Amino acid sequence: MVKFKMRNNIIFAVFILAVVGFLLSISGKKYPQIPASESHLGITEVSGCMKCHGPDALMPRKPAHPPKDDCFKCHKKKRVKPSK
Ligand code: HEC
Ligand code: HEC
Repeated sequence: MVKFKMRNNIIFAVFILAVVGFLLSISGKKYPQIPASESHLGITEVSGCMKCHGPDALMPRKPAHPPKDDCFKCHKKKRVKPSK
């Protein structure tokens, strides 16, 4: 019976670590935010981003950039200051 409980504790600890890791991964703090500039505000689709950040475009991402193309998973929009 004691053994059984011990195993549950380990499963519980692993579960907590997984949850914390998941929350960190979606918090977006460690990635540069999307600037709140003219060129960024209106865009809601990845294909829009690629017009400027695609491989042959105006501002390609660094070669060291993570290979995934689901921009909004990592890059969150900067909050726009409310205009007067
Ligand atoms: C019209 C061209 C254009 C489009 C479209 C565009 N960007 Fe950009 N992006 C730029 C330019 C130019 C810069 C660098 C200057 C600046 O910070 O505004 C930049 C900078 C960035 C940065 C870096 C900010 C930093 O702090 O280093 C991120 C992240 C970014 N863009 C993400 C995106 C995402 C995600 C999209 C799609 C929603 C997107 N961009 C669409 C032109 C564009
Ligand atoms: C898996 C997470 C992730 C995804 C998905 C992602 N990025 Fe990034 N991006 C990063 C990280 C991390 C950096 C910072 C890299 C550095 O500082 O070297 C970054 C940096 C940038 C920069 C700044 C310049 C550079 O190359 O470092 C731009 C622009 C950018 N990303 C655009 C995009 C666009 C556009 C997309 C979608 C096509 C995208 N990112 C998808 C994680 C991501």
